Amino acid sequence: MQISVIGCGYLGAVHAACMAKLGHDVVGIDVDERKIAELSAAKAPFFEPGLEDLLQDVQSTGRLTFTTDMSAASGSDIHFICVGTPQKKGENGADMKYVDAAVTGLLPYLKSGDVVVGKSTVPVGTAARLAELVQGHQPDAHLAWNPEFLREGHAVNDTLSPDRFVYGVPGASEDHPAVMALDEVYSTPLGAGTARLVADYATAELVKAAANSFLATKISFINAMAEVCEAAGADVTVLADAIGMDDRIGRKFLNAGIGFGGGCLPKDIRAFMARAGELGADQALTFLREVDAINMRRRTRVVELTRELCEGSLMGKRIAVLGAAFKPESDDVRDSPALSVAAQLQLQGAVVTVTDPEALANAVKRFPELNYDDSVDSCVSKADAVLLLTEWKEYRELDPFVLGGQVSVPRILDGRNVLDPAKWRAAGWTYRGLGRP
Ligand code: UDX
Repeated sequence: MQISVIGCGYLGAVHAACMAKLGHDVVGIDVDERKIAELSAAKAPFFEPGLEDLLQDVQSTGRLTFTTDMSAASGSDIHFICVGTPQKKGENGADMKYVDAAVTGLLPYLKSGDVVVGKSTVPVGTAARLAELVQGHQPDAHLAWNPEFLREGHAVNDTLSPDRFVYGVPGASEDHPAVMALDEVYSTPLGAGTARLVADYATAELVKAAANSFLATKISFINAMAEVCEAAGADVTVLADAIGMDDRIGRKFLNAGIGFGGGCLPKDIRAFMARAGELGADQALTFLREVDAINMRRRTRVVELTRELCEGSLMGKRIAVLGAAFKPESDDVRDSPALSVAAQLQLQGAVVTVTDPEALANAVKRFPELNYDDSVDSCVSKADAVLLLTEWKEYRELDPFVLGGQVSVPRILDGRNVLDPAKWRAAGWTYRGLGRP
């Protein structure tokens, strides 16, 4: 099929490359010239495992091109909207200006029978509003909402083999032309058995908001248990293993630590609360306020624990922070708990040096006041405390004996509960985890 993908960020660049991999002819469109130049040269503009290999693979077939020129969409039958919906400044709601600009910019190039497919995470009601806009301009074009559930760090695989497809179309009608078009786009994964649900617009939009809210709630639940474990002298990691063995609960997303961050979960639960408020259903989601509060409290708790580790004062203490990305296998620092902790420590008088295998360039842009070092060795050199805040594999595998010879005082705060406390203590370290005795 002939496909255009509008917006080439974490979602769109991966989606464009994967659609070409599935055999379609794809043009990726974005207003950012630097991004388009890199993608055109088969380079990934951000770190995402497997993306660069995939870009090289599909570009050699000639099925994937990139441009800043929206008129290139005129050759396509399906147009995926993959632009961002960040949190509005000073408000909880989502900023819809990029989605609105993408759809408005696309209107002049729509022809009869075209299908516009929204993938961005949007407040419920957006699809119905955009469908009116599209059909007001081109009555024979269609709009569908097809939310994306990919995780950064696993984006290529999640796009090529998702858990499920959700199509939102008017009346949840199986016979809607957009359903047939999407079935053709995704014929390979559908043929391999991926489930697909057809829903109305509002349900499709809400599926995404509900999924992210559930994941955020699961993380905050276990972090709340970590608070109680800390107070009672219990171990939240054993507690998580034990409750996770009940398959109604499940062990996934029960890792207590410094909490969730990134470009999705934090802003999506806030936008969901804001939208529910507009709909008069705010009471239904007041629990998400608590989910958010528990999550933010973890960051303050880590700062307090670091102060305790440093014998009551952060003033002038040299703190080495391992990890800047909001999670491993990503260079994304949007709402990164690691960087937020690092910045709070620095504000309270510590001398903080941050290292990360992939995210330093993005971190410097966001927090220029912190010190950065691309080597773990020099980052931890003469440190009064080491904080593991993003669980990259190379940090999980650090040798406490080797590291012990480099720091000033062997104290470690394991912000993700991924180290073996017995091993670190045996090597002479003062070890603190979160929610562990
Ligand atoms: C999330 C959703 O998982 C994905 O389905 C959706 O499409 C976009 O938002 P992503 O932001 O890539 O994906 O990250 P995810 O893997 O969900 O992790 C989010 C945050 O939660 C990270 O900061 C991670 O460190 C944290 N986390 C995750 C925990 O603190 N504990 C856990 O047990 C799991």
